[in-house]
Amino acid sequence: MAKILVVTSGKGGVGKTTTTAALGAALAQAGKSVAVVDFDVGLRNLDLVMGAERRVVYDLINVVNGDAKLNQALIRDKRLDKLHLLPASQTRDKDALTDEGVARVMEELRDKFDWVICDSPAGIERGATLAMRHADVAVVVTNPEVSSVRDSDRIIGLLDSKTLKAERGETMEKHLILTRYDPARAERGDMLKIEDVLEILSIPLLAIIPESTEVLRASNVGCPVTLNNPLCAPARAYTDAVRRLTGEAVPMSVPTDKKSFLDKLFTRRAA
Ligand SMILES: Nc1ncnc2c1ncn2[C@@H]1O[C@H](COP(=O)(O)OP(=O)(O)OP(=O)(O)O)[C@@H](O)[C@H]1O
Ligand SMILES: [Mg+2]
Repeated sequence: MAKILVVTSGKGGVGKTTTTAALGAALAQAGKSVAVVDFDVGLRNLDLVMGAERRVVYDLINVVNGDAKLNQALIRDKRLDKLHLLPASQTRDKDALTDEGVARVMEELRDKFDWVICDSPAGIERGATLAMRHADVAVVVTNPEVSSVRDSDRIIGLLDSKTLKAERGETMEKHLILTRYDPARAERGDMLKIEDVLEILSIPLLAIIPESTEVLRASNVGCPVTLNNPLCAPARAYTDAVRRLTGEAVPMSVPTDKKSFLDKLFTRRAA
């Protein structure tokens, strides 16, 4: 029986798809069977970030409508046996996703995998509420800036009201991923500080992902960052996030690729 996790944010372009691919790959790298599901009907980005765009035959809407079986639509990752993608459709009408159809597909996925990760579209409309509806756990992705934090606050409200868990009177497990964080800019006051974000949102922090060119590099070659370069700073941050999600106590840090003063000194001496 899978845990269903939704990656959500309210605001667009904050790093949901990047996070979905990275958490999915890191869980599969840790030996879990995983399905990542693209709920972003019309935009369909997750297949690109996962490097599977040329292998898409059927999509979520086909399965929801009963035009394809789940197994026909799921794409198994070429690098990680346990990682699967259920892509979104690029062209079809968003309303093609019926509540009943999505419920059926989510239950089928729940039976097959250890983790199901739903990549939410931006906004607070039906697409976002459909993506979160069946979740057991939510990861709220936020950038350290006011508009992103405000939208995350609205999404937290929806997680506590529009999900099946909320309707059953249960509490949704919520975690915050603060991403695109740049310590130097936060120090200069050009970005919100971690404490400021935590004070406004008051949900537990799962990870801080640094701003890094490694993320763009990974997405350009269609490979989740944890797989493309497991030792780079954002990959280490996502791997720690997965360890915390699966119950390990891992001290919180902001991983960095920058060499420390001592590293630099020794490299220079050795040269
Ligand atoms: N830690 C990071 N460092 C640098 N760039 C990042 C980081 N995380 C995400 N990005 C970049 O930010 C952009 C948006 O990321 P992504 O597509 O994951 O956001 P999204 O929330 O899924 O967007 P949408 O709301 O449109 O679906 C991408 O170009 C991605 O490469
Ligand atoms: Mg996205």
